[in-house]
Order: sequence, then C-alpha cells, then structure tokens
Amino acid sequence: MAVVDDPLERLLTPAALEDPSAVYADLRDNSPVYWHQGIDSWIVSRFDDCALVMKDDARFACDERRFEGTASQSVGIPVELLSLQSLDPPESGPLRSLLARGLRAQITREFERNLAARVERVVSRRAGREFDFVAEFTVPIVLGSIEEILGVEPMEPSWFSGIADAVTAAMDSPLRPELHEPGVAARGVLSEMVEGWFSQPPSGGLLGYLAKNRDSEKVDRRILVNSVRAILHAGYESMNSAVNLAMAALLDAPGGLAALPDGRSDPALQELVRFTSPVRIEGRVPLADTVLGGQRITAGSFVTMIIGAANRDPARFERPDELDLARTGNPHLGLGRGPHACIGTQLALTQMRVVFATLARLRPTAALVGRPDYRCTATIRGIDRMVVAFD
Ligand code: HEM
Repeated sequence: MAVVDDPLERLLTPAALEDPSAVYADLRDNSPVYWHQGIDSWIVSRFDDCALVMKDDARFACDERRFEGTASQSVGIPVELLSLQSLDPPESGPLRSLLARGLRAQITREFERNLAARVERVVSRRAGREFDFVAEFTVPIVLGSIEEILGVEPMEPSWFSGIADAVTAAMDSPLRPELHEPGVAARGVLSEMVEGWFSQPPSGGLLGYLAKNRDSEKVDRRILVNSVRAILHAGYESMNSAVNLAMAALLDAPGGLAALPDGRSDPALQELVRFTSPVRIEGRVPLADTVLGGQRITAGSFVTMIIGAANRDPARFERPDELDLARTGNPHLGLGRGPHACIGTQLALTQMRVVFATLARLRPTAALVGRPDYRCTATIRGIDRMVVAFD
C-alpha cells in the first residue's frame, strides 16, 4: 500500500488542530491501514479495525513482555515501569478491580456537591467578564477534582499543569523525539510525588482506600504507585482536554450552552466525547501475524489507532461530522473499549455532567471571544487558551 504524504503531520496543521475531519476522512478513505515509516508503526483509522484491536486482547497486547523475543521492538520491561496501562488480563485483573472499586467509592454526592460549588465560585467571580477559560476555569476545577478523588492536599495549578503537559507532549515523541527527555523528567516528578503520598497516605480518597485495601489483592506496590500516577495524570490531563474541547464545541453549536438537553443527559455527554475525541491515539502490538483491514501485519509490529478518525467513520455513525446532542446508539471509542477501556469513565462523565449542568444553569449565554488556541499535539487533543465571555 502506498504511503501518503504524512497524515499524522497534517493533523498538526492549524486548520486540522481545530477541525481534523478532512484528515480523518483522508486516512479512512485512502490509507485505512498503512505502514508509517517515520514512527515505525501501522496506522489504523476505520471504526471496525480500531474496535477490533481494542477488544481482541488475545491478538493485540499492551503488555510488551507478551511478545518479547519475537518482536522487532521488544524490550524487557522492568517491574518499576509496569502499570495498569501496560499489564494485560489476566495479570491486570486484581489491580484493575482494586482501582475500579477504589475510584467508585470516591464518586459520591458530596464529591458532586463540592465540584458544583467550585464551579459556582469560579463563575460568580467572572460575571460580566472576558477571561481565559482554560487557565482560570478548567485547570483549577479539574485539578481540584483529582486532588479530592486521590485525597491529597491542593497543588499549585500552574506548576502542576506544566508538569502534566510535559508528560502529555512526550506521548508525541515518536513524531517529535525532542519531547521524550522532558517527558521522562516530568513523569519522574509525578512518580516522586505519588511515592511520597504512598509513604504517608491520607486517611481518605483513593490513596486512603488503597492503604486500607491493598493487601486484599496482593498487588505489587511499585505497579500500584505507577498506576496511581497514571490516574493522576489522565484524571487531570484527559479531563482538562475533554472539558475544554466540549466547551468549544458547545459554544460553536447553535444555541451554545443553552442547547444542552437539561444540561446533563448522558447521550449528550457521550456525543461530546465522540465528536471531540480528546484521547485520539492509542497503540497495541499484534502477538501473531494477522490481517487487519485486508492488510497483512506482522507479529510485534506496532499498531497505532486513530480513535478520532474511527469516531467519525460514516460506516458506523450517521452524519459523523455533526455534533448531535440527541444522538443515541453511540458506540464511540472515545473512552476505549475492552480490557483497557478508560477506568475513569464514570468519574469523567460525572464531572462533565456537573460542570456543564452548572455552567448551562448559571451562564447559558456564555460565548467565545475569537477562536480557541488549539494545542499542537497528536496523541491527546487539547486547547491552550480560549477566551470566553460571561454575561
Ligand atoms: C473525558 C475524559 C477522558 C477520556 C476521553 C479518556 C479516554 C481514555 C481512553 C480512550 C482510554 C483507553 C486507552 C487504551 O485503550 O489504551 C483511557 C484509559 C485510561 N484512562 Fe481515561 N479518559 C478520560 C478520563 C479519565 C479520568 C478522569 C481518569 C482518572 C481516573 C482516567 C484514567 C485512565 C486510565 C488510568 C487509563 C488506562 C486504563 C488501562 O490501560 O487499563 N481517564 N482513557
């Protein structure tokens, strides 16, 4: 199959950062499964192929140790680097179940009330003003949520967002090798912080829960620390992107925030995740030679899924490039699928419901001032700055 001029690079042009639909369509139509020489990986963009790779963990692995010795890219992974994200079933089972129970226990009425109160406070201070929604609203709101979920003391928002953004940027290092080292350093800062929390765990939150319940599942402490670091990072960064991208999509749509059905319907939130696809690239490794989308791919070669393109696939979604807040039967892949599906799904949807219901109630006429400044990243989409006017 011919390699087109680099569509991954084209995702990073200003027009595609704001509206990637044309690049997604080009990928799906012309190169649905192709070998990308630059990043040494297959690129997969149609819904059915991406859904299959996510679901079929017998054929497609996250855990690189499963194909060690047979694969071109295989490396021994020391236990220090293992986490929920790199373990597959059945090994991941006890860890996933412990973390899922711990997270579920934190999503309480009190958590929702506290979040709504924080949103109300930020909104009331900005009445009649134009302000940067990203720095003044989303960053403190989302950081406050993950701090409460973990049970830790407040951190300085601009310091933390700098560290978290460097880890996110490094996910693009196959395309931008210079981002790798700063990302490793930033991840080290997060690891050290989480390690400190494990040494002196708070009484409440997920950390308090794990201190009390960890032994029941006999999970390796280092793997647990890395998994909590992943929860801290994704809980902040994926959520930050999701809230900003959803806000931009809503303010661009006819009716703005007032058009949100009741401000809290689950189909509307699912549609916002599908349409914006904040986490748009994920990877797996085939354990045996296999055929994907008619293309023969070899064991151990990397497979990169463009979730954003899959979520706009007309073979699966009617009018895929339209934000339809009443859309039902919406099997999008924006929160993953299968054994590595987002463990924060319930937390993410709860936060989006509370945030947008509160914003729609208090500021239904909120409007964009100018265009958002979209973040120049491929793996996780995002917005760096977005001026919003409140009445
Ligand atoms: C709307 C916001 C969010 C989006 C769009 C999102 C998206 C995703 C996606 C697509 C995956 C699947 C990755 C894969 O298949 O390899 C994933 C996994 C994950 N997410 Fe989220 N996420 C969000 C919020 C959160 C939150 C709030 C947390 C905090 C608990 C979180 C923690 C994680 C973790 C730890 C994983 C790895 C799971 C595993 O590999 O088994 N995410 N997320």
